[in-house]
Amino acid sequence: MKSSFRAPSNIALVKYWGKYGVQLPSNPSISFTLDACATETSLELQDSPGISVALDGVDTPSFVPKVAQFVERIAERHPWITRYGLRVETHNTFPHSSGIASSASGMSALALCVVDLAVRLGHELPDPRQEASVLARLGSGSACRSVYGGLVVWGETPSVAGSSQEFGLRYPGEVHEVFRTYRDTVALVDVGQKAVSSTAGHQLMEAHPFRTQRFAQAHDHLAALKPILAAGDLDAFIELVELEALTLHGLMMSSRPSYILMRPHTLQIIEAIRTFRRESGVPISFTLDAGANVHILYPDSHEQTALAFVKEQVKPWCKDGRTIADRVGQGPVSLQ
Ligand code: DP6
Repeated sequence: MKSSFRAPSNIALVKYWGKYGVQLPSNPSISFTLDACATETSLELQDSPGISVALDGVDTPSFVPKVAQFVERIAERHPWITRYGLRVETHNTFPHSSGIASSASGMSALALCVVDLAVRLGHELPDPRQEASVLARLGSGSACRSVYGGLVVWGETPSVAGSSQEFGLRYPGEVHEVFRTYRDTVALVDVGQKAVSSTAGHQLMEAHPFRTQRFAQAHDHLAALKPILAAGDLDAFIELVELEALTLHGLMMSSRPSYILMRPHTLQIIEAIRTFRRESGVPISFTLDAGANVHILYPDSHEQTALAFVKEQVKPWCKDGRTIADRVGQGPVSLQ
């Protein structure tokens, strides 16, 4: 028995940074699900025990511990899975060397395969997509937001009805049409291995001197986004999203030990975006994930101008001039 899914990556607007217990978030987050950056994964149940993983058709034993840990974490909810051997075949649509984390798309795709197989084996699940989000979260926190398209919230917060610590929720509030087709051009600044992993970064939030204020701020930001998303208020959106990105990196810089994931070219690109926006009035903005790359966000109606700007003023700062064109996407698809 085999199941295959394509699941997209996502980019957070309000960032998840800090966790406790079994992959529970210290603060709520919201993300755009992407489209082009995705992982295609198939999971085959086998009679003989053991786990094997192939990446791009090549057996990759270094991926086995990650899948084994995932299976261990989901076994309490899905004990049936431990009775099978597992063959995972996976492929990222974005280049392996892009510095784009594949854990959100990869764990989401794998979780969707597990839930699909569970249903086909006759296990009753009241809400299979929600179950996939719970399992994806156990693999990687941000992955739980990749099981739906559009805007997805994770983490219980008073301003979003139905929000949960356990799973991602399709954002239930009103969303202005400008945000349904938003663009994300990813500027690839540093394509190497990160100096400090997200897991280590989350841990450093446990004793962070600003943790209480930060976690409260994330709730406030979620609440503040509500009218912004409904009205399509781009100025307020840009202000909040850039503040979140810089806060994330500010938290890294003020952790103990302190560390910096931005590179000089990250700052050059941020400066170029802010200058261009100020001079042209074009609503182009940035966010950052836990790395040096810059996600350049803009409405699709400004695509031509934004792409010309990227070509002239961003690409020179990118590794080998590389960027990835992405946009808000519709969520995962079954590949069988
Ligand atoms: C900065 O989801 O990669 O991208 O739960 O340890 O797998 P783990 O962490 P991960 O952290 C992502 C952090 C972030 C912000 C976000 O996506 O909300």
